[in-house]
Amino acid sequence: MTDNRNILVTSALPYANGPIHLGHLVEYIQTDIWARFQRLRDNTCYYVCADDAHGTPIMLRARQDGITPEQLIAAVQKEHEADFADFLIGFDNYYSTHSEENREFASSIYLKLRDEGHIRTKTIKQAYDPEAEMFLPDRFIKGSCPKCGAEDQYGDNCEVCGATYDPTELKNPVSAVSGATPVEKDSEQYFFKLSDFSDMLQQWLKEGHVQSEVANKLGEWFEEGLQDWDISRNAPYWGFEIPDAPGKYFYVWMDAPMGYMASFKNLCDKQGINFDDYWAADSKNELYHFIGKDIARFHTLFWPAVLDGAGYRKPTGVFCHGFLTVNGQKMSKSRGTFIKARTYLEHLNPEYLRYYYTAKLSSGVDDIDLNLEDFMQRVNSDLVGKVVNIASRCAGFISKKFGGQLSAELPEAGLYSEMVTAGEVIAQHFENREYNKAVREIMAQADKANVYIDENKPWILIKEEGRADEVQQICSQGLNMFRLLMTWLKPILPATAEKSEAFLNTELLWSNIEQPLLSHAINKFKPLLTRIEKEQIEAMTHDSLETQMATEKPALSGPLADDPIAAEISFDDFAKIDLRIAKIVKAEHVKGADKLLQLTLDLGGDTRNVFAGIKSAYKPQDLEGKLTVMVANLAPRKMRFGLSEGMVLAAGPGGKELFILHPEDGAQPGMKVK
Ligand code: 2FM
Ligand code: ZN
Repeated sequence: MTDNRNILVTSALPYANGPIHLGHLVEYIQTDIWARFQRLRDNTCYYVCADDAHGTPIMLRARQDGITPEQLIAAVQKEHEADFADFLIGFDNYYSTHSEENREFASSIYLKLRDEGHIRTKTIKQAYDPEAEMFLPDRFIKGSCPKCGAEDQYGDNCEVCGATYDPTELKNPVSAVSGATPVEKDSEQYFFKLSDFSDMLQQWLKEGHVQSEVANKLGEWFEEGLQDWDISRNAPYWGFEIPDAPGKYFYVWMDAPMGYMASFKNLCDKQGINFDDYWAADSKNELYHFIGKDIARFHTLFWPAVLDGAGYRKPTGVFCHGFLTVNGQKMSKSRGTFIKARTYLEHLNPEYLRYYYTAKLSSGVDDIDLNLEDFMQRVNSDLVGKVVNIASRCAGFISKKFGGQLSAELPEAGLYSEMVTAGEVIAQHFENREYNKAVREIMAQADKANVYIDENKPWILIKEEGRADEVQQICSQGLNMFRLLMTWLKPILPATAEKSEAFLNTELLWSNIEQPLLSHAINKFKPLLTRIEKEQIEAMTHDSLETQMATEKPALSGPLADDPIAAEISFDDFAKIDLRIAKIVKAEHVKGADKLLQLTLDLGGDTRNVFAGIKSAYKPQDLEGKLTVMVANLAPRKMRFGLSEGMVLAAGPGGKELFILHPEDGAQPGMKVK
């Protein structure tokens, strides 16, 4: 065992405007297992996190819900904490970036950077929404793709052709907040001079604080040259105001990583831990950030530079992981594979997922796949079939025939010590975040234990005269091997480990595993884990599908991030919309259009030509003769394919599930919809 280490670990702070889903959980499970492993190895390890509570999407989401941002972030934090607790994520502290501690760090760090000459101001042009009277982040500008012409593309990349561009290049841009056409407006912004830290960062990266894949990527960014970083945003903005700059706020990504410090400071104040021991420039304690590969730049360039500039220590390691796919594809609401933490918990034991992710995770940045069929098989065969099975095969004999007493010696002490030795390899794999290798090794040891029991057949021996002692010894050997397996699995399966501790009547500690449990009384065995049934997975997928179809408002980090609800309109505005029943008399494909169908609509005398983006959902012939609802008084709009004289109403998540609204029978074309 190594000397006692002092470690602080963090996971990325989830945005306070959407639910935790299985994609997020890869990281929290990965970090939690590492922290639990460190503690099990007798190191001191604090694990802190917080909600990332600032920024435009949170401001707009609160506005849309008719609540204050404070109310929104409080409600979301409560949900996040419950989800994490139920997934057995054992934070030492869970906090918020909207905290007094964080305000202090944001101000003091900024002032230090400013005083050291690392901040400069510059007037830049940015997209501005004249109606909503706010500057627009890229993702709140939509328009047609400058390359392929696809409509309704957001920000700086086209989902149809994959092109990337500057949002100013979008054709016919509109603000996703109000629908107004954005204008360019000058404003003064505050920049952090990242280039001041170029040499320091190059050196830091050479010292091996990041994975090689990430170092390579950073090399490319260095070659492009380090750009100064805009750390300010104009009011209205939800965040902390910059001390010497009224009306200017810290960009959410400026104060977010400081949330790691703020959460830890809050813990220190509660528990009497010395903050500086972990954050002072000369700290010898270890600091690790677990993050997704998408936010590597923030954590390996900006963050170390900000820390260095403000006189703090830099991270010992930044550990990036890949994304989650489900059944080989991006998580999808229409396939029911966009699974929220809460939906999972309604159907399945959190330890199953903890185990499966562990079995898949390596120290690299490759994506990991949750294949639901494989998930079920793997959990059932490894955890239930191999590990728990050892205990259930041996426990009954010990409690029924030997009064719960283990034998005074092991029949195969050599086999036991061989397994103990394997524990050191397993520990190395955990330490190096090679969890898949750790799991493979643990299961190889479980196989050995099962072979031992199969070969020694206590269930046959027990029937033979005078062989009871042997049965006690074999089962004691089996249970001691089970104890080893559960000790190694304890960081992954904390709840099952706790039940095993109650059963074995001992605390599972890595430090005393050389010593088997001999002449030791155990408790009655209770089932530890049950098999996953196919129906549970089906029900979870089904519910994930339903959640999406329900009317609940998705968070801005979900679909509304790409399609935010427009600014509020008055009743008078609404009353101006003339909704009419229309009959689809003709529906045709539009040459060169990916999404559109051309509809000829009969309004009971008046005929309209309308282009509707419903091609993914309907064949033209299926629409002809149907009734729908249309906005009849919309000003005609010139499109690439012709003039569109109105809009039909459709609803749904998109793709094949886009439902054109069919009025009930009895409606007549031209009727007003009320
Ligand atoms: O990408 C995200 O979800 C951010 N909320 C992560 C922030 S991590 C840290 F820097 F605060
Ligand atoms: Zn395009």
